[in-house]
Amino acid sequence: MKVDVKTQGLGRLRDEACVLFADDVSASRKLVRRLGAEAYDAYRGLLDRDAFAAKAGELVTLHQGAKARVPTVVVVGVGADADLESLRQAAAKGVRAARDAGATSVSLAAPLRKNGKGTPRPVETASFLVEGAIVGLYRFETYKGTKAEKDVNQLSVVGMPDDASRLRKGAAEGEALASGVLLARDLGNEPGNTATPTHLATVAEDLAARESTLEVRVLEEDEMQALGMGSLLGVGRGSAQPSKLIVLTYTPPRSKKKVDTVALVGKGITFDTGGISIKPSAKLEDMKFDMCGGAAVIGAMQSIARIQPKVRVLGLVPAVENMPGADAYKPGDILEAMNGTTIEVRNTDAEGRLILADALTYAATKMRPKPKAIVDLATLTGAAIVALGYHHGALISSDEKLAARLMDASERSGDALWRLPINDAYRKQLKSPYADVSNLGSPGAGTITAGAFLEKFVEGVPWAHLDIAGMAWTERQDGTFTKGATGFGVRVLARLLQRW
Ligand code: BES
Ligand code: ZN
Ligand code: ZN
Repeated sequence: MKVDVKTQGLGRLRDEACVLFADDVSASRKLVRRLGAEAYDAYRGLLDRDAFAAKAGELVTLHQGAKARVPTVVVVGVGADADLESLRQAAAKGVRAARDAGATSVSLAAPLRKNGKGTPRPVETASFLVEGAIVGLYRFETYKGTKAEKDVNQLSVVGMPDDASRLRKGAAEGEALASGVLLARDLGNEPGNTATPTHLATVAEDLAARESTLEVRVLEEDEMQALGMGSLLGVGRGSAQPSKLIVLTYTPPRSKKKVDTVALVGKGITFDTGGISIKPSAKLEDMKFDMCGGAAVIGAMQSIARIQPKVRVLGLVPAVENMPGADAYKPGDILEAMNGTTIEVRNTDAEGRLILADALTYAATKMRPKPKAIVDLATLTGAAIVALGYHHGALISSDEKLAARLMDASERSGDALWRLPINDAYRKQLKSPYADVSNLGSPGAGTITAGAFLEKFVEGVPWAHLDIAGMAWTERQDGTFTKGATGFGVRVLARLLQRW
């Protein structure tokens, strides 16, 4: 996708399509009139018939014939108090409508201030418009014999000359964020037979080869054995696919000062059958998405390499397939984790926490410099969907400062999070009669007890956990979400580190 900024004004714009964003009907009238008399005539007709009211999410496409200066005009309502997130959703919808009309190049007209001058918050506006448009156009067609013929390959943000440099900065940021989201979606949508732990490792290696600020190391099973990662390796035993621990490192360029290190850890179960505690068949195919936490970490590392924040970032992905093979771990087995904790396996379907346990200990104790904070992401519990549905990821942390930073990044990014509590009452639910801890919490609060389990492996490093089970993939296209993997988590991580 080529992305640029245009400042010649709507009246002189030439493009295959233009998307206009309007708070209300009167704002939309002004914008369409600026674009030209021809478009305005068509638009007025619509308004006269009350066919369009510019309500949030409402959209109309005006077709003006191939010879017109701007053959396709799309007007999208964003609501009276348009925030950045609604602009982002509107960009996704608007640019898809332009694509449906056959456009390959699309201008996005940044909204004006009430007095008609300039763009409110030009950096953020351009960033959200470009990011929303790119991720809204996403399609996963790798395995389709017939692929869509036409696609949008050029996006422009149209604004005032005074704003140009800030719009350019925001557009570049939006592109960087979108690139990570698209990578995470591609990884998530890839089926279980191709997206193996080895494949995730190869993708991470290719990424590190492309980005000069990234390095990668992949730990193989024998190295993990030597480190005592009995919890992670226990889960992989039922699979013919070798388990991997992927470790990406981002080092900020030209930074002389000492900077903090932050570790990101993502669950990379490339397929979750449930193991011996096998899952029912309904919707089982969706368990190819059980590596979306890991995909979000790899995607975020790509965005971070492009945004180049002044903080060291580690991206760890324990990549394992959970299968009920002949040598599979069984309910009742006791595993010993890298930090010496013994774990009674009460259910082999609660495997995510087992692979994360060793990855968290590795991040907390083996990396130099030692991380100041660890954030993990996982499609960890169905209970997160019971609690929050498909509208928020769950945030669990006993570190107030880290939790506040994540909530702030959540608001700035559009990746919605809601915090759940954690305290001793929940921690007690993990007692086991035979081992130090059980991998299954006693009934209730499954998302929190899973978080409490993970906490035992971070060795005192400030830590936060994001359960993205309800957010990692979606059944139907809606705004910036396209069917399949969403890339949820990439933006909140990138935004967190951008301002670390
Ligand atoms: N990967 C699943 C969680 C999941 C389920 C995510 C559905 C998204 C949609 C996880 O490994 C799992 O099976 N969790 C169990 C935990 C239970 C056995 C304690 C669950 O949520 O049922
Ligand atoms: Zn499971
Ligand atoms: Zn799982």
